[in-house]
Amino acid sequence: MGIDQHGRAIDYLRISVTDRCNLRCLYCMPEEGVAWKPHDAMLTLEEIAHFVAIAADEGFSRIRLTGGEPLVRLNLVDLVRDISQTPGIERVAMTTNGILLPKHAEALREAGLSRVNISLDTLDPAQFAHITRWGAIADVFTGIDTALNVGFDPVKINAVVVRSLNQDFLAFVKLSLTRPLHVRFIEYMPVGDSQGTDGLGWNATDTIPNEELIDTINERAKAAGLGKLIPLNNAAKPEGWGPAQYYQLEGAQGTVGFISALSRHFCGECNRLRMTAEGQLRPCLFSDLEFDVKGALRSGDDDEVRRVLHEALSTKPDEHHNQVGTTRLMSQIGG
Ligand code: GTP
Ligand code: 5AD
Ligand code: SF4
Repeated sequence: MGIDQHGRAIDYLRISVTDRCNLRCLYCMPEEGVAWKPHDAMLTLEEIAHFVAIAADEGFSRIRLTGGEPLVRLNLVDLVRDISQTPGIERVAMTTNGILLPKHAEALREAGLSRVNISLDTLDPAQFAHITRWGAIADVFTGIDTALNVGFDPVKINAVVVRSLNQDFLAFVKLSLTRPLHVRFIEYMPVGDSQGTDGLGWNATDTIPNEELIDTINERAKAAGLGKLIPLNNAAKPEGWGPAQYYQLEGAQGTVGFISALSRHFCGECNRLRMTAEGQLRPCLFSDLEFDVKGALRSGDDDEVRRVLHEALSTKPDEHHNQVGTTRLMSQIGG
């Protein structure tokens, strides 16, 4: 297992397989004018698989595929198969907007993908069309049904909470009652604003700290005759490698998680590296330090690839030091 300079065990690799997406969420990507990276600037699927084999040998055992939207990348199922058969890789997961799951879920499951996190920020069709600029929420609902039907486990829903959107939190919580769905509320990180990309005027006041959100949910649940959110211990949590903290309503099949990206400093528990679709290894979401895996892979020298990986591990910062923002779009890093 890779150990970074601050003693943290790093065994979770998030790989962005494309910067493209079939939606344009307000906080993630501008509607027009994104200069897509040309295809030869991106790693090929074979290069990604080769890097995973080296990373596995260096102690990485858990892989998450992200985007943009990973499922718009052609032949992704082949990559999932290659990665999940790589010695040392124990689990392969994906974060997706769910739109293309009805088409690909079964093949992904057969190829060895074990679970999916599906991004869905609202349950209201009109608000969904607004946030995603053109998405149809029915497609995501079908994606969620398909994910459960083909046996992904756990299936999680990621909802980014933005104060000015005034989302219906209780409707999300209720999703966990009758099906094994794990709903996670994510504190909005005003990353786009710092680059002036979303043009929404959202800022730090749009981040609802999760403690406040839990109180709000408990009040609304009480008014609706539902119980309180009960904190879950580690043994009762759904499988997860990220920083979410989990709760449950009494009798629910699923759980409710909170990702306190800003209000709780979880950097001390950080266990991951990220790689962009262009093959740049990022030691931290919010640090623009990047290490050139692509160049190393294309040099044909695996020792050079290992050296780059070690360099990224050894420069991983202890925390983000309240820097929230990067020169890249979220869609280029994969969250
Ligand atoms: P699980 O393995 O299911 O726990 O998934 P995960 O939470 O690691 O991954 P996912 O892609 O679903 O990410 C959920 C949210 O957590 C996204 O908004 C990410 O941006 C955020 N997140 C993930 N890793 C980090 C991190 O290292 N730092 C910060 N600040 N946020 C993160
Ligand atoms: N703040 C919080 N979460 C974000 N995501 C994307 N941008 C942001 C942001 N600014 C989430 C996506 C997805 C995950 C990978 O990251 O909604 O669920
Ligand atoms: Fe790790 Fe950086 Fe995220 Fe902190 S902000 S948890 S150091 S990736």
